[in-house]
Amino acid sequence: MTQTHPELSERRILATELLWSVGVAVLVIAIIAMVLVTALTMGVNPPSNVERIDPKTLHLSGEFAEQNLGTMVGSDGSVTARVIATQFMFVPRCIQVPEGRKVTLRMTSPDVIHGILVTGTNVNTMVIPGYVAQVHTVFMRTGDLLMPCHEYCGLGHSEMYAVVQVVPQNEFKPDSNGRAVCAKR
Ligand code: CUA
Repeated sequence: MTQTHPELSERRILATELLWSVGVAVLVIAIIAMVLVTALTMGVNPPSNVERIDPKTLHLSGEFAEQNLGTMVGSDGSVTARVIATQFMFVPRCIQVPEGRKVTLRMTSPDVIHGILVTGTNVNTMVIPGYVAQVHTVFMRTGDLLMPCHEYCGLGHSEMYAVVQVVPQNEFKPDSNGRAVCAKR
């Protein structure tokens, strides 16, 4: 008979369990550390503001009425860009924002779930009907950045994109109402 001593095998089980729990603990700590580091140093955060809006009436009045869409500079100097994501386009199709300044993107959808990302930046969010998706960011380089829809929303999904035109601060010239529109190129 080659049966192990019962005390010995129990000790071995305990050692194996300890080894696994140390491994799992290291992984969990590494994942939490990664979330914290990217959140604090790279501005990678989950969109967290829960703000409701009626998708059936958002186009009639308020901030998502047609005349209020696009980039607006407030009296306090804050830059806010409002965009509607709808099957299968963004309104407006181009938004102009200044480089190196805090920009708030506010988006919503009157129909189905869309999603946006701005190429080469940390901007990435879902746009869900009934809610306002809000992202704060600072665009660090100038140029025309592609903003595609990244959530399958129907047959025209692949044609759905907008452009974020990032201009140097001295070229960012909102009109007397605080509105800035894309320069024709
Ligand atoms: Cu909108 Cu895909």
